[in-house]
Amino acid sequence: MAGSRTPDRVLIAGASGATGQELLSVLRPTDLAVRATTRSYANVDTLERHGADEVLVADFFESADAVAAVEDCDIVCCALGTPPSFRHVTGGKLVDRTGVVNLVTAAVAEEVSHFVFESAIGVGNSKAGMPFPARLVVRGSLSAKRDAETALRRSGLQYTIVRPGRLTNEPPTGEVVVGEGGDSVSGSIPRADVARVMAAAPFTPDARNRTLEVVSRDGLSGTPTNVVSVDWADDRLTAAGERRRL
Ligand SMILES: NC(=O)c1ccc[n+]([C@@H]2O[C@H](COP(=O)([O-])OP(=O)(O)OC[C@H]3O[C@@H](n4cnc5c(N)ncnc54)[C@H](OP(=O)(O)O)[C@@H]3O)[C@@H](O)[C@H]2O)c1
Repeated sequence: MAGSRTPDRVLIAGASGATGQELLSVLRPTDLAVRATTRSYANVDTLERHGADEVLVADFFESADAVAAVEDCDIVCCALGTPPSFRHVTGGKLVDRTGVVNLVTAAVAEEVSHFVFESAIGVGNSKAGMPFPARLVVRGSLSAKRDAETALRRSGLQYTIVRPGRLTNEPPTGEVVVGEGGDSVSGSIPRADVARVMAAAPFTPDARNRTLEVVSRDGLSGTPTNVVSVDWADDRLTAAGERRRL
């Protein structure tokens, strides 16, 4: 049971994915122990080389795999997503719903202290932030993510739902514009910026139990509304010794 301890072990669910790998880079210099998941044994060596302290091969359609993944973890960073598939359009059984809900259920039983979920601008009340044609082709996964967001909000866990705009693989900008309330910001953001926000969220009182839309300042499109100021706990993303010197 992890709830009463100082956070020290983080699960990156979907560490083999593009955001997951950025999360590994962000968490590597910290004092946090990192457990990474992938569905493929072929990814294990790479994830270890990229800084994972433990790698678990897990398929989150299986609730037992979700239970094993969160065991003894204090924080969950969920960067799961459906690979290219017709199911983005049609919906049905998607990891964005079933897998995330399995993880949330396991996290409740484990009493994890904070659950961070990478959702998307376009989900729920943020639908106006995603262009209509794009929304049409991912309507199945948007609705799956909406259900997962709802499950997380109702779980009783402390959470942050991060809804990024269109993801890029550009270097981090460090300038993230945050909106809240759905009808807020729209545009793009490097995965590296999303990873920093996700890693800092559990240590950021401003981010507690909130659903935040994020884009980078230079990726903004249109005029942002409902922009909020969040004092991200970036100092937690360095090692303790380094923090003392700062
Ligand atoms: N593309 C965009 O512009 C955009 C915009 C906003 C939000 N998002 C969302 O952001 C999230 C991250 O996107 P990304 O492109 O960075 O990630 P990604 O590269 O698509 O990685 C997805 C991860 O999910 C894992 N996964 C998939 N099905 C799984 C299952 N059944 N059990 C366990 N793991 C499973 C994959 O593991 P394996 O390696 O084992 O397959 C991989 O690690 C997604 O939810 C995506 O929808 C995307």
